[in-house]
Amino acid sequence: MASMDISSILQGGYQHPVSRSWQGRRALTKSMFMYPIFITDDPNASVLIPSLPGQHRWGVNKLVEFLGPLVKKGLSSVILFGVPLNCVKASPPYFAVTDIPLTSYGLQDGRGSPADDENGPVIQAIKVIRANFPNLYIACDVCLCEYTDHGHCGYLNEDGTIHTEPSVQRIAQVSVNYAKAGAHCVAPSDMMDGRIKAIKRGLIDAGFGNKVTLMSYSAKFASSLYGPFRDAAGSAPSFGDRKCYQLPPTAKGLARRAILRDVGEGADIIMVKPALPYLDIIADAAQLAPDHPLACYQVSGEFAMIHAGANAGVYELKTMAFESVESMVRAGATLILTYFTPDFLEWLS
Ligand code: PBG
Ligand code: ZN
Repeated sequence: MASMDISSILQGGYQHPVSRSWQGRRALTKSMFMYPIFITDDPNASVLIPSLPGQHRWGVNKLVEFLGPLVKKGLSSVILFGVPLNCVKASPPYFAVTDIPLTSYGLQDGRGSPADDENGPVIQAIKVIRANFPNLYIACDVCLCEYTDHGHCGYLNEDGTIHTEPSVQRIAQVSVNYAKAGAHCVAPSDMMDGRIKAIKRGLIDAGFGNKVTLMSYSAKFASSLYGPFRDAAGSAPSFGDRKCYQLPPTAKGLARRAILRDVGEGADIIMVKPALPYLDIIADAAQLAPDHPLACYQVSGEFAMIHAGANAGVYELKTMAFESVESMVRAGATLILTYFTPDFLEWLS
């Protein structure tokens, strides 16, 4: 060792667990975790989702007993996804239906009516959670794919392409209705051009400009990691794919432009999704939007993959779960949406 240069020696700086704990710029805290929850329209449902280990579709009547223990452990935020299973689909053809009036709950149509129906799962869940857990922060995913008859994230033209203008107006309307029901945050995941501006305008005009956070899924890639989610939410498109609105996995430049655009259009939080295969995009977002909170979504397929690897003996679940989220924080994320949230509340206690 005597022959080694001083500049070669690093190990003296991290030989102890405590000195290792100082190597991160930021430590994980419980409030960094936002828990995605699937709410279905059978009020008494508690149905295990086979492709998402340990995760359920919940009915509104089950939310208090499910969330109570998590809130006690330090759960501070949730993001809600509605899963309409008791709806019938309007019959094809599937093209844009801009003139269907709001009906009583139960019809999946071209405008995604169940999304913001007073009797639909999301609005009901917001009210139940607000009433029972006054300190829990409620974000709502805003999209139409779970609620349209065709399963796409916006209105369609007759040729099956997205009709952007009415899609964006409708997405803004759903956002405002979630705000009216008591959501603290709306998070559009549709990737339609111009929706951040339209939602922000809608929130301001409805009196929520200073009350509701707008979290944009800014850089959302057309990923193969959404499969378990689409099972869980029944939101796979009935034809085609989402490549005309979600970003190509190669598209670093488009992701950067989308992040800057959404900052300019009034987003309060920027999100990158999925997370682990897109750490470079998280790092780019941290540099492009340094004055915004930065979220990333460890999506259903990432969660399932970590479980599958652990089951196959590739690694230990907890160690790998920590390694995955620590990489996201290292890349610059300040907030992580993950199905591991209940585990981290336990592990960080
Ligand atoms: C709906 C939506 C999806 C996810 C969040 N919102 C799926 C998709 O775009 O097909 C994925 C979440 C996950 O996989 O955990 N627009
Ligand atoms: Zn969608």
